[in-house]
Amino acid sequence: MTLIDVHLTPDYVARALREDVRAGLSATPKWLPPKWFYDARGSELFEEITRLPEYYPTRAEREILRARAGEIAAITKAHTLVELGSGSSEKTRLLLDGLRDRGTLTSFVPLDVSESALREASDAINVDYPTIDVRGVVGDFTAHLDKLPGEPPRIVAFLGGTIGNLIPAEREAFYTSIRDVLEAGEWLLLGTDLVKDPATLVAAYDDAAGVTAEFNKNVLRVINRQLGADFDVDAFEHVAIWDADNEWIEMHLRATRAMQVLIPEIHLEVTFDEGEELSTEISAKFHRSGVEAELDKAGFTPAAWWTDSEARFALSLWQAV
Ligand code: SAH
Ligand code: AVI
Repeated sequence: MTLIDVHLTPDYVARALREDVRAGLSATPKWLPPKWFYDARGSELFEEITRLPEYYPTRAEREILRARAGEIAAITKAHTLVELGSGSSEKTRLLLDGLRDRGTLTSFVPLDVSESALREASDAINVDYPTIDVRGVVGDFTAHLDKLPGEPPRIVAFLGGTIGNLIPAEREAFYTSIRDVLEAGEWLLLGTDLVKDPATLVAAYDDAAGVTAEFNKNVLRVINRQLGADFDVDAFEHVAIWDADNEWIEMHLRATRAMQVLIPEIHLEVTFDEGEELSTEISAKFHRSGVEAELDKAGFTPAAWWTDSEARFALSLWQAV
């Protein structure tokens, strides 16, 4: 069994969910933060998304990691690999292989809000990498970065394009908080999806098999279960649009009829008009210049920028100054 530090106690989660649901569903327009997609079912649905023909980011990032893991190991000589929003850590095995083969890696610290995904991935890696000390953290990467174990020099990997799920102000705070926990000379490895033609982007977030629709609606199931709400999940439809001004995909849930939803645990009654949309996620897409400006502002210097063969996705390496 892998050692897991749990910073998200049931009490903490219950309080955070109540606060987010109250704030988001009382607002105009209504919104919910994407971290609540990821109960056990949500994490499984995300893994299913990564295998969809339309969802290219995972395959593109894997291609880059396969080509560059050795280089990343040679440049960083990291002793600890920290992975934020680690999920299944499936692609991360390429990095673990590169760092282990280089002979520098002693520990792996995956961190995720999804306890089921984290335990499953940590246990499997513990078995498959017996020379590496695996120490999982159930935590929120916007709140628990100060609690990261591991011997320097560390490399913090934030893969999959999850940075795009933060709104710009959260992104800035996130980069700054990573810089604050790193010593000068330590590393950040960042996966960013790139701006491309809107048809490709929209298809990736509105797949023909409807898996992303199920993933999107899962947040309503989480609220029904955790807060005793009575959302009629089938009365909402999945919407994915490209916002060309902000250069992000927006996922919404649209009410197909007027509804009243009771959320007993927070004593809230929420009214939806027919056609009203609840915003559940943004997925920002990037240009190299924008990523460089934000990382520079947070106190990082660029070490490498790699893309896949079709220039759809970028993996970049940064050093804390
Ligand atoms: N890195 C993996 C998984 C990406 S899915 C990959 O590239 O495929 C996003 C992951 O981030 C999920 O596992 C989800 O549970 C986690 N996550 C989302 N918001 C989080 C938060 N605020 N703190 C920690 N983990 C979070
Ligand atoms: C986790 N994150 C990078 C995914 C994305 O592409 O923004 C979440 C996702 N939402 C819909 N499909 C996948």
